[in-house]
Amino acid sequence: MDDAIDRLHRLIDASTRITVVTGAGVSAASGVPTFRGAGGLWRSFRAEDLATPAAFRRDPRLVWEWYDWRRGIIAACEPNAAHRAIAAWSRRPGFTLITQNVDGLHERAGTSNVLRYHGSIWHLRCATDCGQPEWEDRRAPLPALPPLCPSCGGPARPSVVWFGEPIERAVAAAADAASDCDLFLSIGTSSVVYPAAGLLAQARRRGATTVEINPDATPSTSSVDFVIRMPAEEALRGSS
Ligand code: APR
Repeated sequence: MDDAIDRLHRLIDASTRITVVTGAGVSAASGVPTFRGAGGLWRSFRAEDLATPAAFRRDPRLVWEWYDWRRGIIAACEPNAAHRAIAAWSRRPGFTLITQNVDGLHERAGTSNVLRYHGSIWHLRCATDCGQPEWEDRRAPLPALPPLCPSCGGPARPSVVWFGEPIERAVAAAADAASDCDLFLSIGTSSVVYPAAGLLAQARRRGATTVEINPDATPSTSSVDFVIRMPAEEALRGSS
């Protein structure tokens, strides 16, 4: 496995356009529960049962209890060695991070050029789209659930992308552009949620060398150039 890590370092040094996609596995060592691994269920609900517009319409309080629980956990977490390595790479020109994570740990590690593909758990917006711009609220726990829109007094929602919702247009366009790169790394994602999971194949079609870092196999494993079958925080410890 040291050979694969050496090969990755050589590729990073030789590449001018590096794009990284991350998922929940990157934050696992910080203590943030992944969605599909052990501990992914919350009160027996799966992410797919809660992170949808229909779930929010049915029971906004229940959906908010889940987000409030995740916000409380994340507030007590620190970035780990994987976040720090990616932050160091981001100081190179030509680097883009596309993260599916809404926890903000990449930003807290000092990463530049981050595309928050699925939004941010720390940003809220009006659930009825009354025209109030989205706002930041880092309180954990929130004092009342659901929190309310300061303009219209209606329920607020987390400013995250739910199943069935589109990726914000500018973010999707920037991620699409970033898939045109020399080196594309997929780190800590199960590669089952689209359109994020499709970016790797797109990068490959455009000629990128592709690498997966994950302790488990994913649907992308068979199509990457090589795999580092390790937890990200171990594979990337000390990388810069
Ligand atoms: N290092 C690297 N990978 C890890 C680690 C680790 N320490 N621990 C777990 N993993 C891997 C798991 O093997 C799994 O493949 O991280 C992946 C986590 O997968 P998911 O829980 O499915 O998370 P993710 O891929 O980010 O989910 C995508 O789905 O629920 C939605 O919007 C949510 O952004 C999320 C999206």
